[in-house]
Order: sequence, then structure tokens, then C-alpha cells
Amino acid sequence: MKLNMPVSMQERKCQMKNNAGYKTAYGECLCIDSLEALHFLEDNSVNLVVTSPPFALQRKKAYGNEEQSEYVDWLCQFAELVYRKLRDDGSFVIDIGGAYEKGTPSYSLYQFRALVKMCDVIGFKLAQPFYWHNPSALPAPIEWVNKRKLRAKTSVNTVWWLCKNPLQCKANVSNVLTPYSA
Ligand SMILES: C[S@@+](CC[C@H](N)C(=O)[O-])C[C@H]1O[C@@H](n2cnc3c(N)ncnc32)[C@H](O)[C@@H]1O
Repeated sequence: MKLNMPVSMQERKCQMKNNAGYKTAYGECLCIDSLEALHFLEDNSVNLVVTSPPFALQRKKAYGNEEQSEYVDWLCQFAELVYRKLRDDGSFVIDIGGAYEKGTPSYSLYQFRALVKMCDVIGFKLAQPFYWHNPSALPAPIEWVNKRKLRAKTSVNTVWWLCKNPLQCKANVSNVLTPYSA
């Protein structure tokens, strides 16, 4: 993350130094709560925010996962700040994996609810939805996929590419062209 701070933020800069992971000529990696780090940044200064936040999983990971019922509000705290910090030509790319509802083989709509709130309430535009295909994802949940064989394993994550202004956000698909195949 490249940090661009005004002098008036000297105190916060010192705080951040204590959280430095490593630095290169291109920028700095900080080991810090991103909710805190986002506050350090100037408004309208960031080109790109890419994140794979903790998902609203039923089976919790060690780093902690919000409940599905709390997830949208939790995630939107970050998204509101990201919106403020992004430049008008900036983008916010967010990878969110799906999850089943508790005790039933029906899928939660949580990542779609988050998307709708980020667009309808915060003001983002959906530049394009992508899907990360991960064929090596493990079959889960065991109950529905392995034991009862009621559901196929999930092998895609949704990846929302959000922006403030769809005509201004920086993009050039020439950088990712691939040959057509018949
Ligand atoms: C879903 S995992 C990311 C997994 C990774 N994308 C992958 O596919 O292996 C979420 C990560 O976000 C980190 N995390 C959780 N809350 C955070 C916060 N407030 N600020 C910064 N990182 C956070 C967790 O420690 C965890 O490493």
C-alpha cells in the first residue's frame, strides 16, 4: 500500500512506523488493522484498494469471521472509508467467498447484500463482476457435499470491481488480452 500523508498527520505516521512490515521502492506494507490504516490516508488520494476480507463463514477461522447477520454492516464500515479515500478514477476490488446458511443447504445472500448496500447506500458503482475460479477448493460443507451428496462443491468466489465513476475509473483491457479460441 503506497501511503500519501500530509505533514499534519505526523503523529499518526509515527504510530504507523511501529507497524511497518517491510518497505520497497514502490511502497510500504503495514501490519495494522485496515480500519485504522484507512483513517491515515488523505481523502480522494488512493488509486486502488484490493481486498479479500474475512468471509461470513459458518466454520470460523482463527482470524475471526463475522456472523452473516452482522456482516454487511461490518464490511460497510471499511467500504465507507474506502469510498472517501478513493480518487474519482480509483477502484475498489473485493473478493468475497460465499457461504451456506446455518444448518441448511441453502446459500446465504450475504455478499450480494453487501454489494447492494455498497452501491445503493455508499454510492459505489459496479464496474464489473468477476468470478475467481478455484478448482482446487476443498469440498465443503462436509454435510451437504461429502456425506449427503446434495450439493456440488463451490469453486468460485465473487470478485466485485467497484468504482466511483465508471467512465473515469482507470482500466485498460489491452493489458489482459488473450487469443480467441474456437
Ligand atoms: C479471508 S482471509 C484472506 C485470505 C486470503 N485472501 C486467501 O485467499 O488466502 C482475511 C484476512 O484478513 C485479515 N484481517 C481481518 N480483519 C482485518 C483488519 N481489520 N485489517 C486488516 N486485516 C484484517 C485476516 O487476518 C486474514 O488474514
